[in-house]
Amino acid sequence: MANESLSKAKEAKNDEFYTQYHDIEKEISAYLEYNPDVFRGKTVLLPCDDPEWSNFTKYFAQNFETFGLKKLISTSYAPESKRYKYGYQPTLFETEAPHFDADKTKTHGKIFVLDHDVTGDGKINVEDLEWQYLEGDGDFRSKEICKLRDQADFIITNPPFSLFREFLAWIMEANKKFLIIGNMNAITYKETFPLIKDNEVWLGATGFVTDMVFGVPEGTIVKESDKLKAERLGYVGNYTRLGNSCWFTNIDHGRRHQFLPLMTMADNLKFSRHKEIRGISSYIHYENYDAIEVPYTDAIPNDYEGIMGVPVSFLDKYCPEQFVIIGQTQGDSGKELGLKPFPRELKKLNPSLRDGQLYYIDEEGFPQKPYARILIRKKQ
Ligand SMILES: C[S@@+](CC[C@H](N)C(=O)[O-])C[C@H]1O[C@@H](n2cnc3c(N)ncnc32)[C@H](O)[C@@H]1O
Repeated sequence: MANESLSKAKEAKNDEFYTQYHDIEKEISAYLEYNPDVFRGKTVLLPCDDPEWSNFTKYFAQNFETFGLKKLISTSYAPESKRYKYGYQPTLFETEAPHFDADKTKTHGKIFVLDHDVTGDGKINVEDLEWQYLEGDGDFRSKEICKLRDQADFIITNPPFSLFREFLAWIMEANKKFLIIGNMNAITYKETFPLIKDNEVWLGATGFVTDMVFGVPEGTIVKESDKLKAERLGYVGNYTRLGNSCWFTNIDHGRRHQFLPLMTMADNLKFSRHKEIRGISSYIHYENYDAIEVPYTDAIPNDYEGIMGVPVSFLDKYCPEQFVIIGQTQGDSGKELGLKPFPRELKKLNPSLRDGQLYYIDEEGFPQKPYARILIRKKQ
């Protein structure tokens, strides 16, 4: 396979992941638990969702009345515009419709709308979805989909991973409520982290330690280990598992308001389950920033008033009433925080040190850099 096709296949692999009904249900339940009327009278747009396949569409259509929705709009992307062309076959649902068009089905996106009882059975549900071809291919950046975005209250989907940055910016510029799936690496992107720091965006209710299983198009090459993990979770066939995906949102849920139960510094030093903490005389202090190194979220001392460097996974437990986020140390962010450059002689000792990163001196006198850290402080 030529290099170009290889990288296309890789990107496509990242873009063609289909979310499982159960994962959507589990996540949405947390918002409903916090506010049962969160979707009442609202318009929800699912902008990267072919309703014939998408569990997002099925889930929201099925719960249209329970949630009290005003309107559900779901749009799909034209098969010929997708990076990965996997032998698209229109479904019977489409081909049996009087307005089916064998050419348009390849080059145009589709729009599905649900807002009233079409079948006359007295209920509004998935049976009442009405569809049309879009004018264009359904690219979320097109004028046609931007117009739909502007009339929606909520944007919910699992967007193409390769366009995550653009997708989030597309939502934020329209100032919409949203819930989307992304790779957890996106947390530290320079486009995402400032929003998390300022509590404009946060992680969803499903922890990102949980493996999520996704459907993949027939014929997609899935790593054996991921296939096995998906099978162990009960998904056999065209499925893969991703351990590094999580939900990003600006819809409130109860989990983010739960205080993390933590011990005092003295108790951590005596009783922590982590050997790096238990029995040492004090937490390590960074050399180039006034903060202590806390290598595990459950080892954050609850009585420390200064700044602490904690793992990125802390965000999964972050409660804005308990902690304030000061910054992060990925990319250029360390320089922005004013981390002092390393003395030259230290660089000789550990050439992997880079200016703009945190470092500390270990017990052998060797300069070490911790993994990616988020700097936090107890809320006053
Ligand atoms: C990660 S998949 C998720 C599909 C569905 N939301 C789900 O969760 O099952 C992302 C979908 O977005 C489509 N897509 C890719 N680029 C797009 C674009 N520019 N505009 C709209 N959709 C796009 C992909 O073809 C793919 O079907």
